[in-house]
Amino acid sequence: MTAPTALELGDLRRVTPIDGGFGQGRGKPVDRHYIEAFLRRHALDIRGRVLEVAEDTYTQLFGGSRVTQRDILHVDESNPRATLIADLADADDVPSDSFDCFVCTQTLTYIYDVPGAVATIHRILKPGGVLLATVPGISQMSPYDRDRWGEYWRFTAQSLGRRLGESFGSENVTVESYGNVLASTAFLQSLCAGGLRRDELDHRDQRYQMLLAGRAVKAK
Ligand SMILES: C[S@@+](CC[C@H](N)C(=O)[O-])C[C@H]1O[C@@H](n2cnc3c(N)ncnc32)[C@H](O)[C@@H]1O
Repeated sequence: MTAPTALELGDLRRVTPIDGGFGQGRGKPVDRHYIEAFLRRHALDIRGRVLEVAEDTYTQLFGGSRVTQRDILHVDESNPRATLIADLADADDVPSDSFDCFVCTQTLTYIYDVPGAVATIHRILKPGGVLLATVPGISQMSPYDRDRWGEYWRFTAQSLGRRLGESFGSENVTVESYGNVLASTAFLQSLCAGGLRRDELDHRDQRYQMLLAGRAVKAK
């Protein structure tokens, strides 16, 4: 009799993923679906002077006319659109109390000194300012990023919550996780969100935390 495991793996019995990258070749990557859902839900926080990493796509998409100034942070001089060049872990040159919102998506995973980076983010937000951060839980790596600034961490809801709480105070932090075993498998195979049904994407299983999202408010 054939071992059950031999039957159950089917098309997934392979050591390389079905597609490459994060699934962008097929449509919207699964993690981007969750990132956008999180930012859409907190869109009212994206207002005033807003900082985003490497681009201002989400600031424009979700902030719209609430945004009065868009800033783009980049760690080095390679990005001509950057208005701010800074290493978040060591950013003494960036003035304190500057931003109403920081859209910090998929970035803390690439910074070795996460406590230092979170302390900087807290410092440069205005009192009452909001951090909207997302980080990967279950994810393939990004060779592009790994080779430039390094790729160091994966998070859980608990580790993201504790890290943000250490700077912002736990009472000012909420963290949630997105994903389940199917969404994680699809993401790891670089399949896109469009290949899953809405109910399959929406189901949250805390054992399979694919994407973590945190909202932190700087106390007034
Ligand atoms: C995958 S991109 C994330 C930004 C993008 N907006 C997104 O949503 O995916 C990773 C970014 O991390 C930034 N980064 C890496 N190390 C950094 C550091 N020490 N300080 C600030 N940014 C850093 C890089 O500039 C890079 O643009």
